[in-house]
Amino acid sequence: MEMHEFDIPYSSGESIYISGLGDLHIGNIAHNKEAMKNAIKFLNDNQCYIILMGDLIDAITHTDKRWDIQSIAPEYRDKTDNLISEQYYTLCDYLDKLDPTKIIGVHTGNHEDKIRERDSRNITYDLCRDYDLKYLGYEAWTRIKFKRTSHTETFKIFSSHGYGGGKLPQSKMTPIFQTINQLDDVDLVMIGHVHDVAVGRVERRTIPSTGSMSLRKKTIAWMLTGSFLADRVDGSITYPEKKGYGMTKNGIATFKVYPETRKIHVSC
Ligand SMILES: [Fe+2]
Repeated sequence: MEMHEFDIPYSSGESIYISGLGDLHIGNIAHNKEAMKNAIKFLNDNQCYIILMGDLIDAITHTDKRWDIQSIAPEYRDKTDNLISEQYYTLCDYLDKLDPTKIIGVHTGNHEDKIRERDSRNITYDLCRDYDLKYLGYEAWTRIKFKRTSHTETFKIFSSHGYGGGKLPQSKMTPIFQTINQLDDVDLVMIGHVHDVAVGRVERRTIPSTGSMSLRKKTIAWMLTGSFLADRVDGSITYPEKKGYGMTKNGIATFKVYPETRKIHVSC
C-alpha cells in the first residue's frame, strides 16, 4: 500500500477530469491500438488527470507457464530475447504522448508484479524514475488537494490494480462493492484488473455527532477502469475465448469533479 498527496489547481466553478488508464497489456496480440489512440486523444483534449492502473505491459516471457506464442503481437516475435524491454519502450512511446504533469501516479499490476517477484525486475519503478512519477504500488490512498486562491477542497481517492473477476458483469463489479465496504470516508474509488469498464455512485448516510439532528449524505463515485485487451482476435486463440468470457468494450472511465460544489459526474 502507498500513500500520496497531489495538488490540482482550479478556478471557481471549474470542473476537473480524473481518469484511470490501465490493463493496456502492451505486447499481447489483442492489445487494442485503435482504442489507445482514442483514449490518448480524449485524455489530452480534456486535460484529464490520470492514474495509470497497472498491467501496462503484458510481461509474459518464454519461461512463464502462461506463455503462448500466439498471444505475442507479431512485431515482438523476433524480439523474444528482450521482450520486457521492448514492451517497455512501446509503453514509453505512449507516455510521450501524454502530459506527465497530469499523471497522478502509477500502479503496478499483477503482470508487472510477476516479473518483480520472479526476476527482480520492477518496470513500474523504472517508469516512475524515467518520467519522475509517483509509484503507487498495488493499492494506494491519494489525497487530492484542489487549490484555488485562498481555498482548498480535498478529495480522497482509493485506487488499486484490483483482484477477482469472473464471466458475468455483476461478478466483475464485486471487487468494487467489497472494497467500498472496507473503506471509511472515501470520495473516489478506482479498480482495474477485471477488464471491464463501468462507473457508478453510492450514497452513504449518517447523522451529526452533536447539534440538531438532520440526515447527512455523502456520495462515493466508483469506476472499473477498463482495458485495452480485445476479447477476440482473428487468427489467434485468446484467453477470454478459452474461458468463455463475453465481449467487453475497450477504453477508459472518467470522473468529472466539481471541487467547489463537491459534485462528481461519472462516465465511460
Ligand atoms: Fe490485466
